[in-house]
Amino acid sequence: MKALIDILAKEHRLSKADYLLLLTHHQDEDLSSYLFEKARQTANHLFGHQIYTRGLIEFTNYCKQDCYYCGIRRSNTEAARYRLTLEDILSCTEIGYHLGFRTFVLQGGEDGHFQDDTICDILTAIKSQHPNCAITLSIGEKSRLSYERFFKAGADRYLLRHETANLAHYSQLHPASQSLEQRKQCLYDLKAIGYQVGTGFMVGSPYQTFDTLCEDLLFIQDFKPHMVGIGPFIPHQATPFKDHSAGTLSLTLFLIGLLRLILPNGLIPATTALGTIDPQGREKGILAGANVVMPNLSPVGVRKKYSLYNNKICTGEEAAECWACLNNRLKQIGYSLAVNRGDFSPL
Ligand code: SAM
Ligand code: FES
Repeated sequence: MKALIDILAKEHRLSKADYLLLLTHHQDEDLSSYLFEKARQTANHLFGHQIYTRGLIEFTNYCKQDCYYCGIRRSNTEAARYRLTLEDILSCTEIGYHLGFRTFVLQGGEDGHFQDDTICDILTAIKSQHPNCAITLSIGEKSRLSYERFFKAGADRYLLRHETANLAHYSQLHPASQSLEQRKQCLYDLKAIGYQVGTGFMVGSPYQTFDTLCEDLLFIQDFKPHMVGIGPFIPHQATPFKDHSAGTLSLTLFLIGLLRLILPNGLIPATTALGTIDPQGREKGILAGANVVMPNLSPVGVRKKYSLYNNKICTGEEAAECWACLNNRLKQIGYSLAVNRGDFSPL
């Protein structure tokens, strides 16, 4: 089995049968330590001990979509909805810049209130405030024309997880109005326009199997995104999946290790969801090959309202506390937060 990891480290791809074999043994500690060691070596070789940092601004929790897993889905009438103003957003980026953030991620539900012009105004304003910063958008499925407009207005990167590469599984996670084909088309459009593109999936989402996970890995090795965000599925009490169990730490870490070997220079975050299922989750993610963290820059007053899943961490801390806390945590494992844009760079 270790031989498969050696092949993956060299060739950056495997067959479905090989991935399946590895995944079924993800709890074998000897194997996972071997994988993490290789993944860490790969990351350290390319990025040193610097962890790229993205300031996450959750600027709206209104969403017209209805994903069964998500706490801000349209049908959740218990959600307290909010939108940040341009001034709110600029004050987040200002605070973030002084702390050392050089990438801002604007994330939100699919909120019709923010028309393309408004998004472009936000992008232009941030770029004129901080021309040396990168902006990542994560606002869901849009037309190619909209993506082109955002790119011209200053968006550098786009995060859109494919969620699952298996058709039947996609329809178990989403209502019929949402399609995998459309989701993938968005990813192809984004890449063609010139964005640094991120995709990804939840680990342990309801009805996921090792087989569907292999399809995710095959999709990623073929699509070659610049970034891959994965984190455990965590149930939210006001969604149809409230009684499903969360994804596990061991499988999430194992997948981070595999992804590092598939995409040696990929930008792979140790996500907040990972830090939510285990107090040391983000550190463990980095030691399994991740090289990005995305602390929250949203105003503390709205943090709890951007509730995608239960018990999300860091909803009470100010941005400065998050930066200091993460830097301390990273120091303890021999890493530190980088003060730069942290762009993707080709091998
Ligand atoms: N609306 C945009 C989109 O769909 O890409 C961005 C926001 S969306 C809430 C961001 C990501 O949160 C989703 O891609 C999904 O994978 C993740 N997410 C949603 N509900 C979750 C849950 N219950 N547990 C873990 N992750 C979740
Ligand atoms: Fe908003 Fe899924 S519920 S995109």
